[in-house]
Amino acid sequence: MMSRGSTTVVRSVRLFSTGSVIRPVRTGGSEKAVVTSWIRSYSVAGGRNASTMTLGEKEVKEQPDIKDTVAGGGAAAGGEKEKEVVSYWGVQPSKVTKEDGTEWKWNCFRPWETYQADLSIDLKKHHVPKTFLDKFAYWTVKSLRLPTDIFFQRRYGCRAMMLETVAAVPGMVGGMLLHCKSLRRFEHSGGWIKALLEEAENERMHLMTFMEVAKPKWYERALVFTVQGIFFNAYFLAYLASPKLAHRITGYLEEEAIHSYTEFLKELDKGNIENVKAPAIAIDYWRLPADSTLRDVVMVVRADEAHHRDVNHFASDIHYQGLELKDSPAPIGYH
Ligand SMILES: [Fe+2]
Ligand SMILES: [Fe+2]
Repeated sequence: MMSRGSTTVVRSVRLFSTGSVIRPVRTGGSEKAVVTSWIRSYSVAGGRNASTMTLGEKEVKEQPDIKDTVAGGGAAAGGEKEKEVVSYWGVQPSKVTKEDGTEWKWNCFRPWETYQADLSIDLKKHHVPKTFLDKFAYWTVKSLRLPTDIFFQRRYGCRAMMLETVAAVPGMVGGMLLHCKSLRRFEHSGGWIKALLEEAENERMHLMTFMEVAKPKWYERALVFTVQGIFFNAYFLAYLASPKLAHRITGYLEEEAIHSYTEFLKELDKGNIENVKAPAIAIDYWRLPADSTLRDVVMVVRADEAHHRDVNHFASDIHYQGLELKDSPAPIGYH
């Protein structure tokens, strides 16, 4: 129904599409392909139709309409009021359902981005620094560990949360710089832009997870603000000057992250940190069983860090061999 001359258009169309994705899933060291389907439903109401119809029917002029029903964060959790903006431009959020038919409640990631962590990865692998550049990278990271140890002591939940604010930076900086390089050189990246941005996103999901179990205090937020300003720019310059060094630094940072999470697990096992229920976001992101605990979350996060370690040392090694990253296919989806 549409009333001419007014700003109201009431028309509702629903489009449905089913997405199917074939993903490898690791089961006990072996991989098998799994086809998973989700249903995406796009609700196209008022604004979209008006926008489309102005092309053919000319008479419709409509302002964006805001259906105020209020405000959740990223997730539309059950029972919470939703804030829904009916877009004049036809930009509507898709509604995604899980395999069991229930609504997917996370806006910040989708079912096809979830995975089961490979816990069989070797946590002890270490790149022995031999060249001057490697030693510089190694001791830079080691020297950063000292103030971190002093500041956080054994508060591993808080430490994890704070370190993830830093850990999510290198992938984004590297991905961004490779993106710009691809543009200005008219060349492919070999998948490395995607691989590094995936790493950044994965690290940010670690942060979103630990935020649920440790709340930052005002002075910790201030610290993150300062550290991000320094670290982003320092890493940006380091990557411009020497991607070989930058990736090596990240490789060693990831080795330290593995160590930190191992200490975290020890504290959990000793009972010094309460092994609380796993946050819901972690259960969905890593496809964990519903009764998982914080310990299970730390295990999968530590496995992620080991994968990041491999990717970054590998990237540095490619440069050491006189090649560019694009010359070696990127490990996209390496979890
Ligand atoms: Fe992380
Ligand atoms: Fe990491």
